Amino acid sequence: MSDEPLAHLDTHVEELLAAVEALNSLEELIASEPSLVGKRSVLSSLQKSLGSLSPEERRDAGARLQEARRRVDEALRVRRVALEQAARDAELAADYLDLGDVVAGGVEVPLGVGHPGIVALTQYALEEVFVGMGFRVEDGPEVESDWYNFEALNIPPAHPARGMWDTFYLELGEPESVVLRTHTSPTQIHLMERAVAENSLPLHAVMPGRCYRRDTPDARHLASFHQIEGIVVDRGITFADLAGTIDTFTRAYFGPDIDSRLRPGYFPFTEPSAEFEITCTLCRGEGCRTCSQTGWIELGGCGMIDPAVFDAVGIDAGEWSGFAFGFGIDRCAQMRHEIADMRALIENDVRFLRQFS
Ligand code: PHE
Repeated sequence: MSDEPLAHLDTHVEELLAAVEALNSLEELIASEPSLVGKRSVLSSLQKSLGSLSPEERRDAGARLQEARRRVDEALRVRRVALEQAARDAELAADYLDLGDVVAGGVEVPLGVGHPGIVALTQYALEEVFVGMGFRVEDGPEVESDWYNFEALNIPPAHPARGMWDTFYLELGEPESVVLRTHTSPTQIHLMERAVAENSLPLHAVMPGRCYRRDTPDARHLASFHQIEGIVVDRGITFADLAGTIDTFTRAYFGPDIDSRLRPGYFPFTEPSAEFEITCTLCRGEGCRTCSQTGWIELGGCGMIDPAVFDAVGIDAGEWSGFAFGFGIDRCAQMRHEIADMRALIENDVRFLRQFS
């Protein structure tokens, strides 16, 4: 009997390993450690029982017991590492900050978008159409001398046509006043002067930009608005080129079911001159308040460049001919996006602006 103190060692070891495996938390492990491998454990009491064995038997039994203890210790070590890892994972999971939740429960930060009426969206879309048709994009100053805004455009001082533009004067000067440009046409003059100086005719360019008129804003007019000017100076240019350009542009920008038409008009810097109208997109030509029941909306003016303008910039009207046009970018935005009242473009009502995001 006394030589068999380790008769059930394997069973004890199996039980101990199963108990280690069943430990579910670090706390449980720490609490169970004394009973598994401590002084009151089975292995320790078996150790004590070896005293009754002969020295040789004791050596063998001691080695077996030591191996048993090593297996249980190792199982405990592995279990401890696993439980520590699990505890760390749980801690991290509890700490995890889901930014999605934060945003969902927090303040929404809306992304800005380009403004539909001013330069941004509409201007870029218009530029794209004209660049596709072979025009360059240029710009010019918003503050002009009287000469660029009027005189070079064949509008001498005191000419009755000056009444066509209610002008903001920055300085009433002699001989020259300084004005906020009332249209983008003065940029035509700058470009033609430059082309002459650089000897770089022909010229095909569009010039978008802000203009100013001393107007009372209404459903179709703003005191500060945007135009896009176009100019072509080349050999053999005719009115048919102008009409074709306007029509190609209208269909490309507004779509195939919107028509353009040219009505006889008057501008001192073009001859002949025309007013450029398109089908009212709000009523599709039926007639509505926005188009004053006509079914048509005036976008701008155009015509063949007057020889007096060529004279002013030093272009030989015998060799070169050309056309120019200018129309409202804001008006285009109004028609394209079917905005009944143009003042909505400058009122900064975010509910209005959000529709374009
Ligand atoms: N500048 C003119 C306007 O604003 C429009 C226009 C441009 C007319 C070019 C003819 C040629 O009223």
